[in-house]
Amino acid sequence: MIEVMDEPKSTTPMATPVREPLRRVGPPPSGEQPALLIEHATKRFIVGRKKKAVVAVNDVTMSIRRGEIYGILGANGSGKSTLIRLVSTLLTLDGGRVEVLGHDIVRDEMAVKQLINRVSVDAAFFKKLSPHENLAYAARLYGLDAKRARAEAIAIMARLGIGEKRLSRPVEQMSRGMQQKVAIARALLTSPTVLLLDEPTTGLDPRSKLDVQTFIEEVRDTHDATILLTTHDLTEAERLCDRIALINDGRIVAEGTPAELITMIARDYGKEPTLESVFMTFTGKSLDDDLDDDKNEDDE
Ligand SMILES: Nc1ncnc2c1ncn2[C@@H]1O[C@H](COP(=O)(O)OP(=O)(O)OP(=O)(O)O)[C@@H](O)[C@H]1O
Ligand SMILES: [Mg+2]
Repeated sequence: MIEVMDEPKSTTPMATPVREPLRRVGPPPSGEQPALLIEHATKRFIVGRKKKAVVAVNDVTMSIRRGEIYGILGANGSGKSTLIRLVSTLLTLDGGRVEVLGHDIVRDEMAVKQLINRVSVDAAFFKKLSPHENLAYAARLYGLDAKRARAEAIAIMARLGIGEKRLSRPVEQMSRGMQQKVAIARALLTSPTVLLLDEPTTGLDPRSKLDVQTFIEEVRDTHDATILLTTHDLTEAERLCDRIALINDGRIVAEGTPAELITMIARDYGKEPTLESVFMTFTGKSLDDDLDDDKNEDDE
């Protein structure tokens, strides 16, 4: 006679549940302090001989939860970098307000500066100096212990696939992809709570792009960082971002998780769209369009 073994492990697949990582996606519920709160942010630039006002960021509102990777997706000239520069206190707001973990960026600028760090699309370096020297300079600027910063930099760079030897040669001898990785490593030295990445992978080859994207996810998970990144790469937005805001002419025209945005269009159009068709629907333009050209033409 065959005995039925009723050991717990041989029951249903439910007996061995896979532990889902705890992801907190979506707008912060009431009572929870957002990592980054942007309310009605507006920025105008006066351009050209006719002193025409360009509204680069127009009444932008968003609330980003701690631990989220939040993407700003928009064509050239749509206001992505301006928004990032406003949050990083490099530009002053013409209207609205921004708070980082409850600190107002105008009233509490010093506290905010310690909580954020920004990596721009064209990271600035002392190009004749090595990554090590650049990182040491940044460490001193931020009042970090030089030895610890150096060890940290080596560890971060190793994770990005850059060996210690490369860190002693001048930055100008590195490819743009390499330089971008050094820039992210430099930003991480301060362990920012909110990391602002302005097109972190633009201009990188597919391999470096993937490395940097994987690294961004790692940073979110290991540094308890909230990441606001801009991109015009739809695949990147879909892969990396918990939520995405589509920006067009300085305005947010849609916001949601990649799946929500796609569902929104599927409901309205009765077909299964891609994130690209979502973008086209909300902005009426391709990501290759250059808004600057349109604006300049209007100018004349
Ligand atoms: N310092 C400035 N002075 C005048 N106009 C500016 C300035 N910075 C940005 N602008 C204008 O503001 C608008 C938004 O520019 P912004 O650089 O924020 O766009 P973007 O989305 O980052 O574009 P890209 O994808 O090319 O980086 C554009 O019309 C741009 O010409
Ligand atoms: Mg930009």
